[in-house]
Amino acid sequence: MVGREEDSGQSDLLPREIARRARTRAFGRRVYYLPEVDSTNRVAAELAAAGEAEGAIIVADYQTAGRGRWARRWESAAGKNVLFSLILRPEAPAPAVLPVTLAFSASIADTLGSIAGREIGVKWPNDVVVDGRKICGILAEGAISGGRMAFVVVGVGINVNARIEEFPDEFAERSCSVYTLTGREWDRTEVIARVLTALERTYLAFAAEGFSELLGLYRSKLAILGRNVRLSRSGSERVARVVGVAEDGALLVESDGETEALYDDEVTMLTDGRR
Ligand code: BTN
Repeated sequence: MVGREEDSGQSDLLPREIARRARTRAFGRRVYYLPEVDSTNRVAAELAAAGEAEGAIIVADYQTAGRGRWARRWESAAGKNVLFSLILRPEAPAPAVLPVTLAFSASIADTLGSIAGREIGVKWPNDVVVDGRKICGILAEGAISGGRMAFVVVGVGINVNARIEEFPDEFAERSCSVYTLTGREWDRTEVIARVLTALERTYLAFAAEGFSELLGLYRSKLAILGRNVRLSRSGSERVARVVGVAEDGALLVESDGETEALYDDEVTMLTDGRR
């Protein structure tokens, strides 16, 4: 059972305040709060399939089976971070989902950068990173109907108040949070409201002008631009240099004098100095 705008009890997350503080027309106007859920993306897809409107969000304090990209899990200490899923009903055809999520990641990097008071970048496609450590992950999942997206769920996990020791051991070296960057706790309600405000502005700009107008911001935040990265796909690995991002959101890499557009490779930043 999903409660809409429920009182969040002991939690510092205030669902009604999200709607009040977000400067948006649609994003976050409807807020479903759940103290614990398997995955907010799963609940959002269920609500979207049942007709829930664009802009509704599902927020949780804890996920028992948070989903990440590449069928990985997204682990987040209870009550510390931001976990939400946003329902979209884009007019755009299915291939436009990649550029929308790229634009969203740049927009979240920008917002977190202004909160933390420092430059925050992106790693293609839509990880938000600081010095190679991940601060936010985005997972877009959709349902296609007749070649168009019936709906898209954009799941956002932002490390806000987690201390380094609260990350699972295997992620601790590769993760950071707004707390670890600034040394103080942040109001998660305010972070969600600010992120939603930025995301809606980005979404409207995308609908009006397409990705080309937003590509400049994305490129300016791309932490791997000009660097060698490890590319993995279907068990094979190689190293190539990132030279740009195409208008359709593909990552442009160069190796052996050839430029290629990539859509499905996993990108890892190299830490051994092979810049
Ligand atoms: C990634 O970087 O692998 C994407 C992580 C996305 C995590 C968020 S947390 C809220 C939403 N619900 C999920 O199950 N996943 C996304």
